Amino acid sequence: MARKTWLFIRAGVFISFLLVLWNFFWMLKLQQPQQLVPSKIHSIFTSPVPQLTKSEKLNTSKRHFSANVQNEKPQEIRIAAVVCGNRTNETLVMMKSALIMSRTFTRFILFADENATSALNAAVKFWPEGVLNHMSLDLRPITFPPEKAEEWKKLFKPCASQRLFLPSLLEDVDSVLYVDTDTLFLTSPLQIWEHFSKMNEMHMAALAPEHEDQSTGWYNRFARHPYYGNLGVNSGVMLMNLTRMRQFGWEKYVVPIYQEYKSKIVWGDQDIINIVFHFYAEKLYVYPCHYNYRPDHCMYMSVCKAAEDEGIKVLHGNRGSFHNKKQPAFKAIYSSIQQYSFGDNLQTLLDDMKRSLTETIHTNCGKIIDSLPKLLQI
Ligand SMILES: *[C@@H]1O[C@H](CO)[C@@H](O)[C@H](O)[C@H]1NC(C)=O
Ligand SMILES: *[C@@H]1O[C@H](CO)[C@@H](O)[C@H](O)[C@H]1NC(C)=O
Ligand SMILES: *[C@@H]1O[C@H](CO)[C@@H](O)[C@H](O)[C@H]1NC(C)=O
Ligand SMILES: *[C@@H]1O[C@H](CO)[C@@H](O)[C@H](O)[C@H]1NC(C)=O
Ligand SMILES: *[C@@H]1O[C@H](CO)[C@@H](O)[C@H](O)[C@H]1NC(C)=O
Repeated sequence: MARKTWLFIRAGVFISFLLVLWNFFWMLKLQQPQQLVPSKIHSIFTSPVPQLTKSEKLNTSKRHFSANVQNEKPQEIRIAAVVCGNRTNETLVMMKSALIMSRTFTRFILFADENATSALNAAVKFWPEGVLNHMSLDLRPITFPPEKAEEWKKLFKPCASQRLFLPSLLEDVDSVLYVDTDTLFLTSPLQIWEHFSKMNEMHMAALAPEHEDQSTGWYNRFARHPYYGNLGVNSGVMLMNLTRMRQFGWEKYVVPIYQEYKSKIVWGDQDIINIVFHFYAEKLYVYPCHYNYRPDHCMYMSVCKAAEDEGIKVLHGNRGSFHNKKQPAFKAIYSSIQQYSFGDNLQTLLDDMKRSLTETIHTNCGKIIDSLPKLLQI
C-alpha cells in the first residue's frame, strides 16, 4: 500500500514537472515579439543574430512561410541611395533609423563618391556586431551604365541623375526602396516594402504625391512641362521594381525626355520621373503622403490626412530642414536619432524626441507633428 502511494506521488511530481516545463515553453514562445516593443528591439541589438548563408535563408524562409502563411515576410529588403558631397552624416542617420525600426535583413546599396565611400565605411565598421549581423553595405562608385556612358556623361551630372539609371546599374537586382539621403524611417522599412505586394502587374514604381491641394501645389501652378496627375509626385521615397522598369525600357525614355524638356526642368530627376509617369500613369502606384512627409505637409496647416490618422512613416527633411533653422521640428527629430546609440533603449529615443518636439510647438510643424497619434511606430 505504502509503496503504491509512493509511486503515485512520484508520478504526480513527474507530471507536474512536465506541466511546468510546458508552461515555461509557452511563456518563452509568447515572449517572442509579435510586434516590436522597445525593450525587445533593444535585445535584438545586444544578442548577435547568427549569420545565415543565402541558401539557408531561402530554406528557413520556406519553413517560415508554411508555418505562417498570412505573414509572408521578405528575407531581405534593399534600400538604395545616392551619396555625394557632404551627405554622409545624414545618410548614416537614415541608415540608423531603418535599422532601429526593422528586424528584417537590410542591404544598403549606396552609390557614393570617393569621400563618401571612405567616410561611410569608416563609420559603419564601428557599429555593434548585433546590428552588422542583420545588414550589409553594398557601396558602389557613381557611374553610368557602360553601354551608353559617353553619351550620358555629356547630358547629365552623374550624381544628380544617378538614380535614373538604377535599372541597368543594378542589373541583377529585382527591386529596391530608393530614398533620398535626407529621409528618416519612423516605422519599419518593411511597411513601405510591403506595398510591392499591393501593386498590380502594370505598376513598376510607387511614389507619394508632391502636394495635397491645388492652392499650394507647385507643379499645377508653375511647371512648364507635363507631370503626373493633378499635383505631380515627389521622388524622395520610391519603391522601384527594377525588373519591370527594365522590361519597360526605362532608360530609353529618360534621354529623349531630358532632351526635349531640359530648359523647362527645375527639380532635376524628379521632373523627369514626373514626365515619364505623365505619359504612363498606369505604371505608377501612388501611396499616401505619410510615406514621404515633408515640411509642406505642416508648414501652413496640416494637409496630410494619412499622417493625422496613422502617424508619419517616413519623414523627408527636404530643402535642408534637418540641418537649417527653418523647421525646428524636423531638425529635432533628426537630432534625436543622430544622438541615439545602437543598444540604447528605444523608449529613451522616443522620450527624447517628444521632449525636443515640445520645444518646437511654437511652429506649425512642431504643433502638428507633436499632436500626431504616433511618433515612432514601434
Ligand atoms: C533546402 O531544403 C531542401 C528540402 O527541404 C533540400 O533538398 C535542399 O538541399 C536544401 N538546400 C540547401 C541549400 O540547404
Ligand atoms: C558630420 O559629423 C561629424 C562628426 O559628428 C562632424 O564633425 C562633421 O562636421 C559633420 N559634417 C557635416 C557636413 O555635417
Ligand atoms: C553641404 O554643403 C552645402 C554647401 O556648402 C551647404 O549649403 C549645406 O548646408 C551642407 N549640408 C550639410 C548637411 O552640412
Ligand atoms: C573630398 O574631401 C577633400 C578633403 O576634405 C576635399 O578637399 C575634396 O574637395 C573632397 N572631394 C569631393 C569630390 O567632395
Ligand atoms: C517585380 O516584378 C517582377 C516581374 O513582374 C516580379 O516577378 C517580382 O516579383 C516583382 N518584385 C517585387 C518585389 O514585387
